Amino acid sequence: MLPEQQELITEPSSPNTKPVLAILTIDDDVQLFRGNRSNFADLIRTGKSHNFLVYVLTVKHLNFKRKMLEGFTYDEDNDLWIRQQFPFPDLIYNRIPLREDEMQPRTRQKIAACMRSPRVQLFNPKFFNKWSLFKWLRQSKMTRPYTPMTRRLLTQESLKVMMREFPYLYLKPISGKAGHGIMTIKVQSEKSLPYLLKVQADKKSVTYNCATLQQLWQRIKKESGGERYIAQQGIRLAAFNDRRFDLRALVQKNKSGQWDLSGLGARVAGSLSITTHVPRGGSIEDPQKLLVSAFGQDEARRLLGKTRSAALMIAKQIERGSGHKLAEMSMDLGVDRTGGIWFFEANAKPMKFDEPEIRKTSLDRIFQYGKYLLRSKK
Ligand SMILES: Nc1ncnc2c1ncn2[C@@H]1O[C@H](COP(=O)(O)OP(=O)(O)O)[C@@H](O)[C@H]1O
Ligand SMILES: [Mg+2]
Repeated sequence: MLPEQQELITEPSSPNTKPVLAILTIDDDVQLFRGNRSNFADLIRTGKSHNFLVYVLTVKHLNFKRKMLEGFTYDEDNDLWIRQQFPFPDLIYNRIPLREDEMQPRTRQKIAACMRSPRVQLFNPKFFNKWSLFKWLRQSKMTRPYTPMTRRLLTQESLKVMMREFPYLYLKPISGKAGHGIMTIKVQSEKSLPYLLKVQADKKSVTYNCATLQQLWQRIKKESGGERYIAQQGIRLAAFNDRRFDLRALVQKNKSGQWDLSGLGARVAGSLSITTHVPRGGSIEDPQKLLVSAFGQDEARRLLGKTRSAALMIAKQIERGSGHKLAEMSMDLGVDRTGGIWFFEANAKPMKFDEPEIRKTSLDRIFQYGKYLLRSKK
């Protein structure tokens, strides 16, 4: 027999030569699986253009003993999600949408198995929390200057000490998102009601004036509803038309496996809100325009460059601190009125950016980095 023929015979009947990426999420009794379906559909579509096979996989169906797994793909023409059998993935992109779901023992056990397994590489093992982020970034002298002073909010006494140092404070739930549960305190010691507490409601904030530290503490306890909180130095953000704004950076690994800035956006706060989230009345803006208006052309250019390098340093330090290989994160960064740059938080499961350019880069990078991972193997 000729060597060529031998090779032909040992080939499987229908080889799947494409790399396979599974989007991991959690199963749901009613809607089959949870998560942002339009994001998943975008990923499936982009994957095709990069010659990947992409499907949605639930924690329930992730089974290391099988060669084929049940998953879902999107039928664009009929706007339907179709259940199908797919090959066991080479890459798993973790998009489990909620912390509670990620913390379930069965989920944790499967994620740990992915990290151990030589068969598969997992992107983004878990959510961050705001207290760990702060501790990691304080550990490096490169990233420390960008982190506002932060403490756990544990006792009335510790709040008092913190207020003495910083008369403007942000209180935030350690595992919060989208502005939920955020409060601010302003101390105005010359006034008869010296403590001004603002609590973020839907689109506006509700204000309480407290006469004593005890009153303030009681109100905070009530509003925080038993959640774990941090207290953080409040930053006086630069403003545009009297509205505060902050920057949203998307940082991802690129086709060479290096951290890279995929895009920088900006959010301007709604006039009555203490955060800049769009669902809370905030709006999307061009960072260049906002920075030029607040600081002038030259300083704006310098700030953009500095923001870019800060975002990359911060991503590296978060990765180091977390002890896991990471692939992407979004970051909320503030610019104060003197041009100082500050880190507020990073999200391990970035939401869709509405800026079309950033969105496109963000989708492409998942597959470019995926190819890099497959070349470099585990
Ligand atoms: N220390 C701070 N000083 C000033 N503004 C802050 C501070 N922390 C948060 N903010 C504002 O509140 C927004 C939401 O805070 P963030 O930490 O991102 O919480 P969330 O997880 O709810 O998005 C930020 O984007 C920023 O506009
Ligand atoms: Mg945020």
